[in-house]
Amino acid sequence: MTEQLRKTIIAGNWKMHKTRHKGRELAEQIVAAIKHHHKDLPEVVLCPPFTALHDVVQAAHNSPVSVGAQNMDSRTSGAFTGEISPTMLTDVGVDYVIIGHSERRQFFGETDNGVNLKLKSAIEHKLVPIVCVGESLEEREANLTDSLVARQVTAALAGVSEADTKTLVIAYEPIWAIGTGKTCESVEANRVCKMIRTTVSEFYHGEANKAKAEKGGVGDHVSVLYGGSVKASTIDELMAQSDVDGALVGGASLAAEDFVPLIESAQKRIKQQLSRV
Ligand code: PGA
Repeated sequence: MTEQLRKTIIAGNWKMHKTRHKGRELAEQIVAAIKHHHKDLPEVVLCPPFTALHDVVQAAHNSPVSVGAQNMDSRTSGAFTGEISPTMLTDVGVDYVIIGHSERRQFFGETDNGVNLKLKSAIEHKLVPIVCVGESLEEREANLTDSLVARQVTAALAGVSEADTKTLVIAYEPIWAIGTGKTCESVEANRVCKMIRTTVSEFYHGEANKAKAEKGGVGDHVSVLYGGSVKASTIDELMAQSDVDGALVGGASLAAEDFVPLIESAQKRIKQQLSRV
């Protein structure tokens, strides 16, 4: 499998922003802006807060835009006050779900084990998981980036079949680059995204089958995104990298004039890839 066959994705994580009305308005603006250049578009995923999901699903109806949630519980129902289940998400028309975002790990006590349970539940309910991994500044400075990220990836994949893993999306989001304006250098982002891919392949094919683990393995099918202060001025360089299949975007996803150029940049990547096939 070659890079051009992986899905290119631009996903907007609105975090705790946008009321129903504002969310619908933004989704409508994005849909209107890309309506006329359908061809070779990346997968565009909008992830509003739970309360705006229904409005955004309606605004995205019959358009190339998909909708994702920012979190979910792994269980389907029960006495879990304040939680939202995967069946509730599919019921409202959601296709994607962000799992294990660093803000959830940092502020809401999410663990690798919890991420794994959510990932398996999302797959079971036909939601495409966008699994977030990434190191803190202290971990980067202590040279722990690769081991930490690899651990998060393999912990998330425990008990997940090879076939299911091929359909998931992983987002590399260094915590120190989120909302800080500090983008990870695109070459370094590419290196870690590639390392994630190799980790996935090794997880299924093992060290013994190194060739497959490096090329043509399970990891070659997985879309690996970069996230952390992505904006119009940095996206082209990221999209020029071999192993960055798109972006998970926070701040720059909150206004159409900031978000649409990111979609256009990813579209250029797809066109270039197709011209090489
Ligand atoms: P940012 O957020 O683009 O505002 O840095 C990215 C994210 O947290 O997904």
